[in-house]
Amino acid sequence: MPDKSDLFEIMQTTRAMRRLKPDPVPDALIRKIIQAGVCAPNGGNSQRWRFLIVKDARIKRQVQVYYKRAFDEVIGPRYLKSAPPPGVTREAYVRQHAAVEYLTDHFHEAPVWIVACIEEAMAPTRWSGASIYPAVQNMLLAARALGLGATLTTRHLLFEKETEAALGLPPGVHSYAILPIGYPMGRFGPVGRGPLKEVVYEDQWGRPYLSGEDGA
Ligand SMILES: Cc1cc2nc3c(=O)[nH]c(=O)nc-3n(C[C@H](O)[C@H](O)[C@H](O)COP(=O)(O)O)c2cc1C
Repeated sequence: MPDKSDLFEIMQTTRAMRRLKPDPVPDALIRKIIQAGVCAPNGGNSQRWRFLIVKDARIKRQVQVYYKRAFDEVIGPRYLKSAPPPGVTREAYVRQHAAVEYLTDHFHEAPVWIVACIEEAMAPTRWSGASIYPAVQNMLLAARALGLGATLTTRHLLFEKETEAALGLPPGVHSYAILPIGYPMGRFGPVGRGPLKEVVYEDQWGRPYLSGEDGA
């Protein structure tokens, strides 16, 4: 799959790709993704991010057990009661549920995971997340540009201690996301989001910015 170069097209089609083939992903592509990740801004340019590439089936399986348990105990029941988010039809939401469940059962089968971590002595703050999620988004965009599917996942944090032990993270290192990466079974499509006028305000909270200009 050749690199795609239109950034806006890439952003509009970087969806959570949860159905992945188990085929291996070349390390050269993983390196490219990580290189995109470390271009991201981070507080004070201190670069306390660390990335653990996980291919070991045994480690992935240990984490998947908790990922599934978190679904069964927390996420699944919550999904059943929730309404479709803005810009998403009921049918698309039902399809998303099915994909979420699929990833739950097949999390460990993604050929490679990137675990995005921060090494810091202090308790995590909002700034901690702000210094790793830009890198995570860069990596999602890079994966998409390379024709690879990925999803930002954080559910393992419901069993943070257990999963970080399974990942072998040393003291002072915490995980912020696991990105399961692989060649997608399906096709990339546009993301579904609500209209801008409902979330962007001008000068006064609640007054839409550029309301109605493009119907969005
Ligand atoms: C903070 C955060 C945590 C997320 N955690 C998970 C997760 O654990 N499992 C999962 O399948 N998707 C997870 N997602 C993906 C979202 O469910 C997804 O971005 C959202 O449903 C929109 O889907 P789309 O980008 O395909 O339109 C997470 C996304 C974010 C931003």
